[in-house]
Amino acid sequence: MSRICVIGAGYVGLVTGAGLAHLGHSVVTLEVDRERLSRIIAGRLPIQEPGLDELVAEKRAAGLLEFSDSYAAAIPSADYVFLAVNTPPLPDGDSDTTFVFNAVRTVLEHARPGVTIVTKSTVPVGTGDRIEALATEAGIRVDVASNPEFMREGRAVYDFMRPDRIVVGASDTTVAAKVAGLFASLEAPTILTSRRSAELGKYAANAILATRISFMNEMASISEALEADVTEIERIVGTDTRIGPAFLQAGLGWGGSCFPKDLSALSVTASRLGLDARIINAVVQVNHGQRERAVELLLEATANRPDPSVGILGLAFKPHTDDLRGAPALDIIERLLEQGIRVRAHDPAALAAANAQVPGPDYLDDPYEVTRGADALLLATEWPIYSGLDWARIRSQMRGRRLVDGRNVLPREVLERLGFDYRGFGRAPWAGLDEPAPLRERPRSAHATHPGNGVKLDTAVVIRRHDAGAPAENVA
Ligand code: UGA
Repeated sequence: MSRICVIGAGYVGLVTGAGLAHLGHSVVTLEVDRERLSRIIAGRLPIQEPGLDELVAEKRAAGLLEFSDSYAAAIPSADYVFLAVNTPPLPDGDSDTTFVFNAVRTVLEHARPGVTIVTKSTVPVGTGDRIEALATEAGIRVDVASNPEFMREGRAVYDFMRPDRIVVGASDTTVAAKVAGLFASLEAPTILTSRRSAELGKYAANAILATRISFMNEMASISEALEADVTEIERIVGTDTRIGPAFLQAGLGWGGSCFPKDLSALSVTASRLGLDARIINAVVQVNHGQRERAVELLLEATANRPDPSVGILGLAFKPHTDDLRGAPALDIIERLLEQGIRVRAHDPAALAAANAQVPGPDYLDDPYEVTRGADALLLATEWPIYSGLDWARIRSQMRGRRLVDGRNVLPREVLERLGFDYRGFGRAPWAGLDEPAPLRERPRSAHATHPGNGVKLDTAVVIRRHDAGAPAENVA
């Protein structure tokens, strides 16, 4: 059992602290925001992650996890200090490391010699070297390692417990092996590497995932022009074991708190080094183009309408979260408002946050109200709730016919039969088989089934995103 301090009770820090406690370590998570801290201590976590409330409660009860704001009390006895503070984007796209270095300075005031400082949140390459230099200036001998985190929002606890790999970078193997040893009870391949490779590896992982999505979005445009269907292309390429099916779903593109900031930070880093990150820049550009395309499709359907109105289903950047950071829906709404379009929007979790961030639309609790009288609809987030909607009812209460499926999750053929002017991304008018192809993934809800079987439409729409939300029972 090691004594560990985790700095920052954000999404990475809370999960890392609770996860390390689960692995048998004694953990103190430090949080300087008093209000956030007292909520956590009162048992109200500021983030929603399947399994996290239970895990935190269990480890606190076992005496393995504590929360505090006192560096002076917690740091001196720590063997390891994990940095899990924010690195928000600066206006030029670079990563702001102010919180990281403020935390490091305070840690160094209290740490005992020999402590190991580990960067957990995504930090620019070279951050570990700078931490080491600060420690040298302060006259304290420390080890510094990088242990990047690969967990996804909505399944962070699951990802912590079942990582694809554990990466630890340090300037010598003994330090890297020591940090990797903290996770020894997890069954996962371990990659020990240099600190800079570990730091860059995290950016590369996010960048390649975003690249796959943008690549498929480019294929979507090509498919559309050629009257092919990108969801079939996805299946054709995704079944190649060298490629695999993940992160190939075309649509409105990627958002969130990580991909946008990490890709721009990587691009800025490259250009500082005199390199042109051509692929990364193109990936960002293609992603932006998807939002533009959605706006175009919506404006086209509202042109020349009196008091034009658009309904938006889904606001969060992906389902099972209320996180609006980098969410395509918000960008699109702003563009529509600028054009004088009336917007009504629904989201199962993010309504209040959206209202605070982008005032102007009517944010409504009832998805049907969003569709009433609308000239066009956009499905922007593939929440399973939208799978159960009565699309015949929606069609009858809209003024227009256009339905933009921003996530390519709705059964085009069935909706077209209902009279919708269906527009997906890369889903050309049906031109191939006589019968609609069955939806490919297993239904997410007990009611859902595929629309080729003559089932009623209100139970027929299957959300097919592969990775939305991990089953809570798989967590520990
Ligand atoms: C991402 C990475 O997946 C994590 O491994 C990483 O740890 C995390 O960033 C981070 O750096 O902290 P996350 O931001 O939670 O996780 O979201 P993802 O599930 O990766 O989805 C990112 C975006 O891609 C979403 O907007 C999603 O809608 C979009 N997406 C995903 C697609 O458009 N198509 C796909 O096929 C998959």
